[in-house]
Amino acid sequence: MSSSAPTRPLCLIPGPVEMSSTVLQAHSTPATAHTDPKFVEAFGQVIEKLRTVVGTESAQPFVIAGSGTLGWDQTAANLIEAGENVLVLSNGYFGEGLADCMETYGAQVTRLRAEIGNRQPLAEIAQALRAKKYKAVTVSQVDTSTGVLGDVKGVCELVQEHSPDTLVVVDGVCATAAERLYFDAWGVDVVITASQKALGCPPGISVVVVSQKALGVLSERKTPVPAYYVNWNRWLPIMRSYEDRAVKYFATPCVQTIFALNTSLNELLADGGMESVFAAHERTSARVKAAVASWGLKTVAVSPEVSATAMTAVWLPESITPADLLPRLKARGVVAAGGILAGNAHRYFRLGHMGITATQDNGYVDIMLKAAGEALEESGLAIGSSGRCATPPRL
Ligand SMILES: Cc1ncc(COP(=O)(O)O)c(C=O)c1O
Repeated sequence: MSSSAPTRPLCLIPGPVEMSSTVLQAHSTPATAHTDPKFVEAFGQVIEKLRTVVGTESAQPFVIAGSGTLGWDQTAANLIEAGENVLVLSNGYFGEGLADCMETYGAQVTRLRAEIGNRQPLAEIAQALRAKKYKAVTVSQVDTSTGVLGDVKGVCELVQEHSPDTLVVVDGVCATAAERLYFDAWGVDVVITASQKALGCPPGISVVVVSQKALGVLSERKTPVPAYYVNWNRWLPIMRSYEDRAVKYFATPCVQTIFALNTSLNELLADGGMESVFAAHERTSARVKAAVASWGLKTVAVSPEVSATAMTAVWLPESITPADLLPRLKARGVVAAGGILAGNAHRYFRLGHMGITATQDNGYVDIMLKAAGEALEESGLAIGSSGRCATPPRL
C-alpha cells in the first residue's frame, strides 16, 4: 500500500470513481477556447485513444458533453426509427432505463429479463432473435444495479448466426475500460459509455463509439433524426475535424473535462495497454469476491461467470440494511452505495473497484475491504476467526 492514504473518504461506489492527481490537475486548467491549438490536439487524441480502449480501428467515437444517459438518447435517436423492433436484454435497473429510452423514440421494445443476479441464457436470446426481426439488440455489459456481467461476445455470435443485420448495442457505462471488450473482433456496433467510471475522469462526457455499419444505417434512414443536440449528422463533421486537428463548431465541448479525459486515457494506456488494465481489474475483483466470501456473504451475481470485475453487489443478512452499514463505512473512510434494484434496494450494498482503484498501487482496495469487514461486524455480522458469518445471508 502507498504511504499517502487519503485524508478524505474514498469514493468507492460504482461511479463516479476516484481520480488520479494528474487527472484532477488537468481538469482545473484555466479558461481555454475550444479553438485553442492545445485543446484541438487534446480532443483529437481523445478520439484516437478511445478507439484503442474499445479495440477498434474503424469505428467512430462521439465525445459529447453529457452523462451516460445521453448515450442512450444518441443511440435511440440516430439508429432507431419509430415502430422498429428492439430487443433489450435487461439485467436490472439500467436495462429497464435503456428500454424506456428506446420507447421514448418510438421503438417497439421486447424486454428479455433475467432472474435477479443472472443473465439471459444464450438459448433464450437465440430464440428471441429467430422469432422477430430486430433493428437492434441491447446488452448491458455491466448492469450497475446488480453487478451482473452481460455476455457481449456471446450475443455478437448469436446475432451473426441468426440475424446479421441486427445492430449490437452495448451499454458499457459501468464496463468500458474495465471489462474485456474487443469491438472489431466481436462485431459490436455501438458502445455507450461515460467519463466518470472506469475511464477515470470527472462526470460530464458522454462517449459513444459507433461502427461504420451503424453509421450506414444512420445514412439510410427513411425519417429525419428526431432530435437536435444528439443528431450524429451534426456531430460527425465535428469529430472528424478535431481528429484532423482542425476546429469546427456545433456546440461547445466541455474543454476541461476533455483535457482530464485525455490525461486519464494516457495513464490508462501507458503500461501494457488495455490487456494489463483488464488483468488489473480481474485481480482486484477476485480479491473483493474472496473478501465477500470470507464475510460469509453472497454476491448478487449468482456465479463468477456472470460477475462483473468493475464492481460488486453484496446481499446483506436480514438484520442489516444499507442505512445501517453505509454510515459505518463512511466513518472508516469509504463511501459505498446502497442497492437500487426495485423492491430489493434495502437488501444489498455495492462497492465500486474500477479505474485507479484497480489499476494503481494506492491501497484503496485494502482500505475498502478493511472498512467493509469492520462495518459489517459493527452492524452485527459475526465474522469469526474462520472468516465465516454466523448469520446466514438471505439467498
Ligand atoms: C450501466 C449504466 N448505464 C447507464 C447509466 C447512466 O449513466 P449516467 O448516470 O452517467 O447518466 C449508468 C449510471 O450509473 C449505468 O451504470
